[in-house]
Amino acid sequence: MKFKTLVIKGGTKLKGKVSVSGSKNATLPIMAASLLGETPSVINNIPLVRDIYTMAELLKILGAKVEIKNHSILIDPSKIKNYKAPYEIVKQMRASIYVLGPLVARCRKAKVAMPGGCAIGLRPIDLHIKGIKKLGAKIKIKHGYVIAEAQKLKGTKIIFDKISLGATINCLLAAVKAEGTSIFENASKEPEVVDTIKFLKMMGADIKGEGTSTLIINGVKNLTGVSGYTVIPDRIEAATLIAAAVMTKSKVTIENFIPENLTVFFEKLREAGAKFEIKNNSVKVLPYKGKLKAVDIITEPYPGFPTDIQAQWMALMTIAQGNSIIKETIWENRFMHVLELNRMGADIKIEGNTAIVTGVDELSAADVMASDLRASAALIIAGLKAKGVTYIRRIYHLERGYENFYNKLKKLGAKIKIIMENII
Ligand code: EPZ
Repeated sequence: MKFKTLVIKGGTKLKGKVSVSGSKNATLPIMAASLLGETPSVINNIPLVRDIYTMAELLKILGAKVEIKNHSILIDPSKIKNYKAPYEIVKQMRASIYVLGPLVARCRKAKVAMPGGCAIGLRPIDLHIKGIKKLGAKIKIKHGYVIAEAQKLKGTKIIFDKISLGATINCLLAAVKAEGTSIFENASKEPEVVDTIKFLKMMGADIKGEGTSTLIINGVKNLTGVSGYTVIPDRIEAATLIAAAVMTKSKVTIENFIPENLTVFFEKLREAGAKFEIKNNSVKVLPYKGKLKAVDIITEPYPGFPTDIQAQWMALMTIAQGNSIIKETIWENRFMHVLELNRMGADIKIEGNTAIVTGVDELSAADVMASDLRASAALIIAGLKAKGVTYIRRIYHLERGYENFYNKLKKLGAKIKIIMENII
């Protein structure tokens, strides 16, 4: 079978301007939320990446009319007739579970395949199930499916045991149409949750407290589609591009994103000695003198350091002066990139959920393997700096969540190309 391999000749400086695409992790829940409308929704600024096409496919299977044109998607849920999300789709993308809440709210029934294991951790969905049960649904797990039924959903208090973006979304998508008031405590404050709430409010939902850990939801009977909603830019893509510019000591302007959503990342970059100027919705990265300084990070729910930038930060730290301690607290197996970075000459040791990175003078190109979306990004950042030609295999992971990424880097002057290889 033929697979794409990314080939990078390292050592080139990047130059110019690059624009950030729409957020994958905001578009996915907003697409699921559109199922709740009586009328069609049009969502703009969607990233054209594989996970979005997978969600579009799922909505079609459920009976929605879906049309993607340029960076907009029309979703007409008025003829939803199926309440089953099959395993063939869910196994491709875990965010498929987002349809559980809206299907129960809309069809009174849902049958969604249980997502299986994942390269970065166990990724349970117990909090989704617990919350939707609390809202009045009867849920059982049978033959690999979550089967939910509810004649009526009723407002309730949900205290999430752990901060979870996905569980907050799923319970929210059920609670907006429940009878009465729901209060969510320890809810997720991630910008993608806030964006979904903004969309739901435009549909007619009554929600207060977005961006804080307490959400108050007064259920409403009907929600209407939104005829033009613009999704927020992808803060993780922005951070990845910034890291690529810092790594290569380049002068690059990253445009069209919300810098406030990356405050902790910028603080860490500043501490590390990177040079950059933040404007309203862009940042200009400038070359710094000497070496970056080693800076420790701990991944945490928003507004803490995002787990989705941990791998990219580690790539930067491989060439920093000193030791940096990187602690991953969200996913138990999100260090698959470590061995690959070490193959490129990095010096990283793992102790439990902590990686100790000792900065080296230079990285050297190697044949490496991407294990997930953000690991792919980290290997690209390392490859842009490493001496020689790096081959990154299994780069299909990158296409799940980064739109047109190779071309964006190519336009900035990176020596990068895709080749097709036979992999047994
Ligand atoms: C979202 O996953 C993102 N995915 C992830 O991005 C991101 O890493 C993660 O949030 C954390 O920010 C999407 O938005 C599609 P969680 P999600 O529920 O919602 C535990 C990427 O690279 N937990 O906030 O699945 C869980 O194990 C992806 O784009 C339970 O215990 O994450 C984890 O430790 C990868 N039970 C913590 O909560 C549950 O029922 C946070 O997970 C649910 C979660």
